[in-house]
Amino acid sequence: MPELLYEGKAKKVWTTSDPEQVEMEFKDDATAFNGQKRGTILDKGVVNAKLTAVLFAVLEREGIRTHLVRQLDDRRLLVDRLEMLALEIVARNIVAGSLAQRTGLAEGTVLKAPIVEIYYKNDALGDPLLNDEHVAVLELASPERLADLKERARAINRILSAFWAEMGILLVDFKLEFGLRRGELVLGDEITPDTCRLWDAKTRARLDKDRFRRDLGQVEEAYQEVLRRVMGHAAL
Ligand code: TMP
Repeated sequence: MPELLYEGKAKKVWTTSDPEQVEMEFKDDATAFNGQKRGTILDKGVVNAKLTAVLFAVLEREGIRTHLVRQLDDRRLLVDRLEMLALEIVARNIVAGSLAQRTGLAEGTVLKAPIVEIYYKNDALGDPLLNDEHVAVLELASPERLADLKERARAINRILSAFWAEMGILLVDFKLEFGLRRGELVLGDEITPDTCRLWDAKTRARLDKDRFRRDLGQVEEAYQEVLRRVMGHAAL
């Protein structure tokens, strides 16, 4: 019988008969602002499971190692069990969210070159931004591993920016989590409208979790629209 290993804000992780693999189940629950705001986005779990399966398959094709094994059903993916790093790697192409708040740059300003930021995955501290020296002091990654993480985030950003552009979507920013599979660094977690900012390229309409965070309405519709564009794309 599968055992619940972990329940997060948006996913449950279950054991399987293979100790090296787990199942990720995507929930409709949504939280924002470190859990202070809570709600439900109908069928978000179905959209996010499918999008993660598609995007991780795209990345694998481009030579990025991920934890994805295969999609099991509407809401569940079979993935390799990873020893997760306590880091969130954010890549940004356009100013939004906390970058706008931290720097005073106007939301929507296109960055001259993408930037990568490192956050400490620690709910009690509210996932603070770290610099390289903080990462070293906390022993969260060696300098070599940190450089590797940043380079992978940049490579993933190049691949996914091109992918979303074909869907008429701007990849504004996104968050990645990595882990170790028998000592090898591998991309884990998810890539979804929960963890990316996706703007319509023509209208700049928000097609992501900011609709929930900022009470913009039409939250479900935005998730379905993103899935519709991806599934309707001929190259898949
Ligand atoms: P931020 O502008 O709030 O720092 O968010 C940057 C990106 O990271 C954005 O695409 C949303 C994503 N993100 C998460 O996936 N989880 C989080 O807890 C936060 C704060 C952001």
